[in-house]
Amino acid sequence: MAINSTGLQPGQGSGEENNRSHTLLSSDVVAALSAVSLRCVECSALYPALEAGQRASLPRYRCTCGGVLDVEMKLRLPHQRSPVAREGGDVFLDFDAGTGGAPAAGAEWRQLFDERATTPPIWSISTDKLLLDCSGVWRYRELILPAPEAYIISRPEGNTGLYPVGIENCGSGRSGHRQIGLYAGLERFFLKHEGENPTGSFKDRGMTVGVTMANMLGAKAVACASTGNTSASLASYAAQAGMRGIVFLPAGNVSGGKLAQSLAYGAQTIQIEGDFDDAMRLVEQVCNELGIYLLNSLNPFRVEGQKAIGFEILQQLDWQAPDWLVLPAGNLGNTSAIGKAFRQAYQLSLISHMPRIASIQAAGANPFYRSFKQNFASRESVQADTIATAIKIGNPVSYTRARRVIEESDGIVESVTDDEILAAKAVIDRAGIGCEPASAATLAGVRKLVAQGIIKRDEHVVGVLTGNLLKDSKTGIPQETSGIVVQSTIDAVRRVLG
Ligand code: F0G
Repeated sequence: MAINSTGLQPGQGSGEENNRSHTLLSSDVVAALSAVSLRCVECSALYPALEAGQRASLPRYRCTCGGVLDVEMKLRLPHQRSPVAREGGDVFLDFDAGTGGAPAAGAEWRQLFDERATTPPIWSISTDKLLLDCSGVWRYRELILPAPEAYIISRPEGNTGLYPVGIENCGSGRSGHRQIGLYAGLERFFLKHEGENPTGSFKDRGMTVGVTMANMLGAKAVACASTGNTSASLASYAAQAGMRGIVFLPAGNVSGGKLAQSLAYGAQTIQIEGDFDDAMRLVEQVCNELGIYLLNSLNPFRVEGQKAIGFEILQQLDWQAPDWLVLPAGNLGNTSAIGKAFRQAYQLSLISHMPRIASIQAAGANPFYRSFKQNFASRESVQADTIATAIKIGNPVSYTRARRVIEESDGIVESVTDDEILAAKAVIDRAGIGCEPASAATLAGVRKLVAQGIIKRDEHVVGVLTGNLLKDSKTGIPQETSGIVVQSTIDAVRRVLG
């Protein structure tokens, strides 16, 4: 059978182990997931996270109508959960009642997360205890996934820097960072650097949850299509979990740093002739036919993990919601995730208003912008082309999820040229912060929206930098200073320094 050509272990794809029904999953997994449902974002059909008779290796990623799915579960404070006795006398924590959304509950949620955030990250020498409270994802676990602790695969991740870079909110020790605020034209501006995650991008937040789900379902192999960052993250977390990682990349369109990560972490790296959209179509087919667990943001549990970017930003701002959240947009998983996080934080009274979301696309890969410009009258797709390869995507999977976020947050979608992206990247890089090209779309977009008067100079803005500078060291290297080699004499150095 074709499955053997991927070298999966015996039993995978078509065999007993990977095709077991959920009745053979461990009882704590079945119990935990019984509180979780999946809602189609197109037709609102509702499915249980584990369907009767469903093969564990073939979870549902789409509705029968073809729509993508969104995780739904009741969000309850730990003490609001009622212990339910299970077979064997253990206790399962029931997430399936109440909402915890009253204003007083907002204070309780804040206290819970603030206490966890101050837990010192100390490993005991004789235990493999997880430091869940120290993960910038699992700290918010009641809002992410009711995973039994023994299944969680965490580095930990998150806890990334939130840099004050506005004209007014830069302290004296940040005079270099103020250049960013001047460039944007903003008084109170923060950059959240998701490139400080373990594999250098925000993808680790969704991946810890996606690989944890794979672990709960007993998957031995996981796969994704990627413009490079998802694949690097998948490769790393799969290696940690002892799973086989398989990644599909658009040949010639992935930066060297990201490709090196996938290979070094040991994922089977398949470069396909075609673009990301082709790779995405292929991987969905491959996963469904071969019973491999799919870890693109089509997988709704990845999106749940990425919500933690939003929760962490709010916590770092002492739960004062900003006026705007600005981020680069490609496949639209992150727009969907951060928007959902803010919606839930608002519903739980963690914050008092919803920030407006601005998604920024590259001009050569801007289908979402084109739809937005027609009030979302039609769903557009394009043949993508941009120097920011991470967001070189012409047919975003999470279109409907992201559209809801823009509409309900009174948000906006903007488009910026490659020249604007590279100019913004140079400003972020020279300030000493640095990012990969796609991330710089954030600053290019903020500058454009401020110039248009859409974002006001005195509004409180957070921009997300999604990936690390080292991911893509080729772009934005200042030509005049690159590659200078001099004799090792003081005179030669004097001449260069002027
Ligand atoms: N910024 C970076 C650095 C990215 O890698 C991506 C997506 C985005 C922004 C856009 O986020 O897709 O959720 O709208 N990278 C994916 C990947 C597609 O395969 O690594 P999105």
